[in-house]
Amino acid sequence: MPPLREVLYISLLATDQSTTVVGQIVTLARARNLRDGITGLLVFDGMRFCQHLEGPPAAVQALLARLEADPRHVALRVLYDGVLAQRRYQRFEMGLAEVDVHEDLVDVDALDGRAALEYFIALRSRFDISG
Ligand SMILES: Cc1cc2nc3c(=O)[nH]c(=O)nc-3n(C[C@H](O)[C@H](O)[C@H](O)COP(=O)(O)O)c2cc1C
Repeated sequence: MPPLREVLYISLLATDQSTTVVGQIVTLARARNLRDGITGLLVFDGMRFCQHLEGPPAAVQALLARLEADPRHVALRVLYDGVLAQRRYQRFEMGLAEVDVHEDLVDVDALDGRAALEYFIALRSRFDISG
């Protein structure tokens, strides 16, 4: 199997955006990700996005470029970027978890690299994921 790429990033909802924008983002993202072979999880706490993406390297690269240009969020910071042998997400072309507790993503934001990735993966079991 060719290697996959996985990226974990955190960003902030742009100040001119309503929190309801996340619904529109995910509806479109699911259709595109299905086409592009991207799976993952988007977590939104009302202020911050944290998204874990995985897929073919070229598709992940193209998506990152679109994300960096998307004015609906700002201050995008990649926490982890690496090669992956096997998908971590099978079920979702993009799961969504809307969380009330800001602390979770604040804690992820304070980390970097593999520590951030491991923290996020451990958090996942507590999220109520809709797909
Ligand atoms: C927080 C956030 C998460 C997003 N997640 C995805 C995603 O998983 N897949 C995707 O195709 N687009 C996602 N988008 C939307 C892209 O930024 C972009 O608008 C979309 O892919 C369409 O790009 P285009 O208008 O250049 O074709 C996301 C946007 C935001 C703000």
